[in-house]
Amino acid sequence: MAAADRQRVLILDYGSQYTHLITRRVRELGVYAETLPCWVASEDAPDAASGLVGIILSGGPNSVYDAGAPQVSEWVLKRGVPVLGVCYGMQALAYKLAGREAVARGAKGGEYGHAQLERVDGADGGSGADGVGGTDESPLLRGLSRSTNVWMSHGDSVAKVPAGYRLIGRSPTCPIAAIEDRANRIWGIQFHSEVTHTTEGRTLLSNFLYAICGATKSWAMESFLEEAKQKIRAQVGKGRVILGLSGGVDSSVAAVLLHDAIGEQLTCIYVDNGLMRAGESDEVVATFRDHFKIQLRAVDAGERFLTALAGVSDPEQKRKIIGRVFIEVFEAEARSLGDSALGDAKFLGQGTLYPDVIESVSPKGGPSHTIKTHHNVGGLPEKLGLALVEPLRELFKDEVRELGRRLGVPATILQRHPFPGPGLAVRCLGALDPESLTLLRAADKIAREELDKSGWMAKTSQAFVVLLPVRSVGVQGDCRTYGRVAVLRAVETEDFMTAGWARLPHELLATISSRITNEVRGINRVVFDITSKPPATIEWE
Ligand code: XMP
Repeated sequence: MAAADRQRVLILDYGSQYTHLITRRVRELGVYAETLPCWVASEDAPDAASGLVGIILSGGPNSVYDAGAPQVSEWVLKRGVPVLGVCYGMQALAYKLAGREAVARGAKGGEYGHAQLERVDGADGGSGADGVGGTDESPLLRGLSRSTNVWMSHGDSVAKVPAGYRLIGRSPTCPIAAIEDRANRIWGIQFHSEVTHTTEGRTLLSNFLYAICGATKSWAMESFLEEAKQKIRAQVGKGRVILGLSGGVDSSVAAVLLHDAIGEQLTCIYVDNGLMRAGESDEVVATFRDHFKIQLRAVDAGERFLTALAGVSDPEQKRKIIGRVFIEVFEAEARSLGDSALGDAKFLGQGTLYPDVIESVSPKGGPSHTIKTHHNVGGLPEKLGLALVEPLRELFKDEVRELGRRLGVPATILQRHPFPGPGLAVRCLGALDPESLTLLRAADKIAREELDKSGWMAKTSQAFVVLLPVRSVGVQGDCRTYGRVAVLRAVETEDFMTAGWARLPHELLATISSRITNEVRGINRVVFDITSKPPATIEWE
């Protein structure tokens, strides 16, 4: 099936923290899903001709009575495909269909947590006229236990079953927890089927996709891979693609995918900014140039970055300088490739992922607040007159890892923790100097070795060492020392927006501490960061 008519489910985002989880669950069940903001215009949304088989309305933080609260657009109900409203999505549906009486304002702050959903089947046994069986069991709840554990998180609730609808589920605290209008193929559920706390949520979503929408299993990495390669070839023709390779998961998978698709037409540029961890630059060259035989330009620009950063201690200033110098170095390198790379067709490859593409609906109506400016290559494509090739822009991170596995990208790269664009500059606090960076690199290498050896690297989401710009007194071999302080930071997180500190075993902490203080001359104290995010951030700068 070609990309244009691939079966797809549209998730309309009403601002819930779980919206993207719905998208992922649908994909995990084997159907491609995409997210668009709830206010998307009909002409910008897919229809049956572009493979649309169903629409899911997500939850959201609003009350339907709020001024400017997002509502259900007319076209959604006229698309000719089944619709499932989840939580706020159900309330918005009920409000649209039955008006003010349909939704009750939440009493006592609403309902959050586990609830027991009891299925309600029709008393008449059903006619089977709807083509979904001879009982009046809802096709949405088929196969679920009669009483099943669900996750509720709502303020308002549906107070009246709209005309033409039937009650199919209730809980002790939520008398109208699931409704259906089988004739018009519309369903509503008050609970969140997409979270794992809803024990049989997968079955429910699978029912919606396969029994109700009539989808077929059509989303798998294998077919994506072939499709993606064809799309790349069609886009770039005989043109050249330049890709900024960082050695992280996204740019690495993008590089190998592009190379698989267009071979020698790809040139990767790796900018060594002097702020990488121990051994990192050699590893990138060994993996991509030697192993994958990808044309790779490795630029040693460490001095240039360090000169530009001299005396700068403000974290945001550091980020800005690093971003600017990166663009300058990359641009010069790309231009130096000459016509061979910037020939008749010009493209810039990027490992952009789906979460970077979709703009989540914020309850306040704008993108979420930026705590730290993130280093990216903004402005480069325009400057160089290059069109973007973004072969991963439909994928979530775990899908990129699976794709990478299929492409033979080493597990050491695929399982890597995120490493910030400004690198060690934001982990070496205060103004940078080569000696401090050397100390930090050595300490970080030891910590990573021990975390790897003990299996804790894989159990944490991000773990690294930070070097503080202070000295403390110590005693080593009968001598007084006045050395630097290293911080070990290890966190566990799903989304990096919030994080908890990892409970590393004391023995592991002891090994890391004693190795760093014994092996890195100049560091005489190691501390462990026991702060979650919030209030702290993951990085120290
Ligand atoms: P914070 O420190 O904000 O970090 O809790 C959240 C995640 O973002 C990474 N991070 C960055 N990544 N450029 C990046 O590419 C940056 O400037 C930057 N700052 C933080 C951080 O490592 C963590 O994964």
